[in-house]
Order: sequence, then structure tokens, then C-alpha cells
Amino acid sequence: MNKKTDKLIADLTISLEQKTKLIKDVHAEMDRGLAGEKSSIKMLPAYIWPPTGNERGEYLAIDFGGTNLRVMLVKLEGQGKIVMPKIRVQTIGPDILSGTGEQLCGFIADAVIDFMQEAGMDMTLEKEFGFTFSFPMDQRSITSAFLISWTKGFCTSGMVGENVVALVQAAFAKRGFPQIRVGAIANDTVGTLAHGLYENSATSLGVIIGTGTNAAYVEKTSAITKFPALQSKTDTMMINMEWGGFDRIGRTVYDEMIDELSSNPGEQFLEKMVAARYLGDLVSLIINDLIESGEFSPAMRPIKEDAFFDAREVSLIAKDESMALTDMEQLLENHGSGGVRFDDRALVKKVAKLILDRSANIAATMMMAVVKKIDFSLERVHAIAIDGSLYEKAYGYKEEVRRAIEELAGEKKNQVKPFVCKDGSGVGVAVVAATVASAK
Ligand code: GLC
Repeated sequence: MNKKTDKLIADLTISLEQKTKLIKDVHAEMDRGLAGEKSSIKMLPAYIWPPTGNERGEYLAIDFGGTNLRVMLVKLEGQGKIVMPKIRVQTIGPDILSGTGEQLCGFIADAVIDFMQEAGMDMTLEKEFGFTFSFPMDQRSITSAFLISWTKGFCTSGMVGENVVALVQAAFAKRGFPQIRVGAIANDTVGTLAHGLYENSATSLGVIIGTGTNAAYVEKTSAITKFPALQSKTDTMMINMEWGGFDRIGRTVYDEMIDELSSNPGEQFLEKMVAARYLGDLVSLIINDLIESGEFSPAMRPIKEDAFFDAREVSLIAKDESMALTDMEQLLENHGSGGVRFDDRALVKKVAKLILDRSANIAATMMMAVVKKIDFSLERVHAIAIDGSLYEKAYGYKEEVRRAIEELAGEKKNQVKPFVCKDGSGVGVAVVAATVASAK
């Protein structure tokens, strides 16, 4: 490998020393966020506290905010047991991402109404549902949430600064169903944390590593100094961190290019280095740059912007463990580079691995930062509930996260236990709704 590739490897690899420094910076930003000072980690109170695990009942839950909209019926049976008798998944198209707020809320209401009708539910009764809305929101209660900004490529008009609950309820009313109402709104990380805690009281974090990335944890209300009034209401509260905004992290020219291409330049720096929404673009940009510098044979063609890899393809490339790296040939051909040499394929794989590993290492460092904020010396076990396609499905990702956690936790490595919390966010909002209901 030549100098350019060596530099790429150096720029995209995060040393233990850098990780330790990052953890300190994360702690400082978390403190600033809790105090209401300017911080790239927003630290948003979620107006919900941990469930006991004994909440019961059947809940309708809606999960909106990634690639798909999911409507589901969730049964909480107590003692940490959850069953999901029915689920409906619908892709969120580009028309919704960049349409109007009315279209977006109408899309949600239509999906819920269809689901309820299909399930034979009585449409005349009062019905409250749990609503996972996976964006930064300024909450004043469990049923009021003002959208702070869009992330993950959404740029729907007329919603930023508005109460999302009121907008969604208006869509139901317009369709003749004013009695279908939002009983609880929560970020997906908060849902995942609630789900994790319902099943395992040692859960310290709810994390999403999918289209976007973020985490929630439980904080003492006495530490949320920006809202002193919370203390009189409850001892603890879940915090939606919005860690995707963290900006004290060294970026490469490629990260800057991704930022410029995005619908929210200047924001979500960490998310753009970690989340699935951006990984394929990063790999494609790097490959194009290496082609321009002559690192590839002429058979390797620049990837056009409308044909950039997606995260699933990056994972497939990393997964090619065949001797001659032939598994990825078809994929490269689909992107305009047929018949490339072995060396070319090896370099493509190197880039894919570097980007996936960097993502996993940053995510693991962030998780360790939050765990250490809660319990610096790792005195007790911390389970980490993780949902999201990247963590769950990308080749080698979980293993790399585990390796990085072990590196940071040292001899206390067994105190930190990440686990996949499938559909954590959607199911979790049912737990949130049940926790609210049992406190009434
Ligand atoms: C983005 C959103 C955040 C969400 C995350 C994962 O970072 O801003 O609210 O939790 O994506 O979906």
C-alpha cells in the first residue's frame, strides 16, 4: 500500500489515547447539556422514569423516524414478558422526507387507521397509542414534544418548532377519528431503554445504531440543573442525549464532504461518522478520491452520486471472505466497475472495513463514556440495549463494538453487556405508555 492509503488508515483509526480523551470530552458536554449551557449533546429530559417490569396491558405503538414506519400491537404480560401479536411495516418514501408536515402526519394517521381496521379494533372507542418519534424534541410532558430540528435526511416543511403531538392528533381528527390520541411520545432511544429495563433491570443505556445514532440513560433529576422544578416531581428521569450532535471529534475531508452534501450541514457530526444513513456515501467518496489519485486500475470507475453504495452493500463488501474476493464482483459491476483486478477489490474491501470499524469504535467509545458517567469505576453490571440495523446486521460490527468495549473497560470488561433489543424502540414506547398509565 502506498502513502495515500497509509494516511487513510491512520486518519480513520482511533487510538486508545484518542478514545480516552473523547470520553472526557463527552462527560464535559453532557454536564454542559444538563446545565442548559451551550453543548453539542442536547441532553433532553424525556418526562419518563424507569418501568418496574410489572406493567401490563395491550398497547398500540407507532414507530416513526428511520427507514420504515412500524405500527404494532404489543402485549405486556408483567415480569418482563412482552409479546407482539401484530406488526405492520411500511417504507417511508422520499415524498414524505421532503414533503409537508400535513402529508407526514396524514401518512402516520392513515397507517394507524388501516392497521386498526385490519385488526378488527372498535374504531368508535377512545384509543391512546404510544408514539416513537425519533428526532430531537423539546418536551414539557409525556404528551407534548416540540421538534427541535430534523436529522437523517428528513426536511419536511412546517414541523420544526411545532408540537408534533398536536399535529398528529389534528391528522386523526381530520380523518374523523378525534378519539384516537397520543398517550405518550418518546424518542426511539428512550423506547429502547424502557424496553431494555422492562426485561432486565441492569439496563443502563438504550442505544440506536441504525439510520441514525443516539442514546438515552437514566439521570438523577438533581443533576438536571437546567430544570430545577423536575426534582419535586420525581427522583430520576430518562434523558435523550442526542449524541449524534457531538462535535469534539476529529473529522477527515471525507466527513466534511458528507456534511456539505447533507440536508443539515454543520449538524450531527458524530452521526455522520457512525450511522447507516452515511456510511455508504463515505465509502463511495473515499473510493472516488482513491481512483482520482491513481490507486486503482483503470477498470475501476468512479461511482456516480446517484449510485453510491448503501450501508447494506458496505456490509456485503466487508463480508467477502472468499480467497479471490469474488463475492463482491457482481456488486461492483452493478456500480459500474466490472472486471476489476484483485488488488482493486482488496482496496475496496479495506475502505469498507475501515469505515465500518471506525463507526463501531466511535459507538463503543460513546457507550463507555455514558456508562462511566453513571458509574466511573464500573462497580456494577451495565446492560446496554441496542436496536438498529447497523448494529444488528452489519458484518463484524457487533464483534468490533465488543472488542472496543473490552479495550476500554480492561479487567472490568464483564461488567458491560451490550445486547440486541430487537424492535426495542417500538415495543419500548408501549412500555413507556404503560409506565405512564400505572402512575395515573
Ligand atoms: C437521530 C435523531 C435521534 C434518534 C437517532 C436514531 O440522531 O436525531 O433523535 O434517536 O437518529 O434514530
